[in-house]
Amino acid sequence: MRVVEVQQYGGIDTLRVVERPEPGPELAQGRVRVRLAAAAVNPVDTATRAGYTAALVPDLTGPFVLGWDFAGITDDGQAVAGFVPWFEQGGRVGTYTSVLLADPAWFAPVPVPDDRPADLVAASTMPLNAVTAAQALRLAGLTAGQRLLVTGASGGVGGFAVQLAVAAGLDVTAVASTGDEAFVAGLGAKTVLSRTATPSPRSFDGVLNAASAPEAIAAVRDGGVFVAVTDYSAPAAERGVRVDTVHVTPDREQLAEVLAAGLVTRVAGTLPLAEAAEAHRRLEAGGLRGKLVLTV
Ligand SMILES: NC(=O)c1ccc[n+]([C@@H]2O[C@H](COP(=O)([O-])OP(=O)(O)OC[C@H]3O[C@@H](n4cnc5c(N)ncnc54)[C@H](OP(=O)(O)O)[C@@H]3O)[C@@H](O)[C@H]2O)c1
Repeated sequence: MRVVEVQQYGGIDTLRVVERPEPGPELAQGRVRVRLAAAAVNPVDTATRAGYTAALVPDLTGPFVLGWDFAGITDDGQAVAGFVPWFEQGGRVGTYTSVLLADPAWFAPVPVPDDRPADLVAASTMPLNAVTAAQALRLAGLTAGQRLLVTGASGGVGGFAVQLAVAAGLDVTAVASTGDEAFVAGLGAKTVLSRTATPSPRSFDGVLNAASAPEAIAAVRDGGVFVAVTDYSAPAAERGVRVDTVHVTPDREQLAEVLAAGLVTRVAGTLPLAEAAEAHRRLEAGGLRGKLVLTV
């Protein structure tokens, strides 16, 4: 089987395409063999390759395999999508591979539309970020009618958060990237702000900070809630505002729900698995709308 390895923390040239022996089902030990069709590339992958997350996996040395999101076909022919809890696995299981031994808790069936094949490329862009959005909203604990500000709404987590929050009846204001306002409005947000605008201070019950914008805490009313997606973007609590950071964990039921919810997702482009380095280059260059997907 083909995998893309990180030889050691560093730049793009540390990524190497190698052949490894394929694991037989006898090696699965409760795991399920999935032949991958697609693996989405996420910001955590480039950050991990560069070494920014090394403290989270102190025992890990190269070579290792990156990647959380995957979609593919199990040995019994089921189309599935899911994510590997990469840090929880000590960085020893990644999705930049053609074959994955997956814990059944990590994946769920991809809904197959009538007599059409499942769209595994699109499906691979959803598990990590849609489940993160769902868990961030649960952490926020707002109820229908309450006002939520979502930053980074042009991105994966933010875009799914807007859609799930609207479906839950929240009154959603979304911060879009420049030039992307119309797309974000199409996700159902009542109000769309451009990235350069300053949201009204102290006017939201909660903020879901899918961009790294800790200053957005100013928009939360006294006693409201602020949910961050990275520890470094969580501001100090102030004015009775509860500040929390989401740390996504696999939840098969929640994953099945978001895969079946008909959420809008964006694929910025596809590249063969062997071109993972080019995908990293494009992601790091910025300006993408949607996920790059490695195809097998
Ligand atoms: N804690 C967890 O469990 C968990 C799980 C999944 C993801 N994450 C993290 O969540 C973050 C978002 O992931 P993602 O996949 O959604 O990334 P993404 O698709 O790249 O989206 C990030 C979005 O935020 C926007 N943005 C960045 N800085 C901003 C700022 N200062 N003000 C306004 N908008 C800004 C970006 O806009 P531009 O493109 O215009 O810059 C982009 O639209 C990443 O840091 C990721 O590592 C955490």
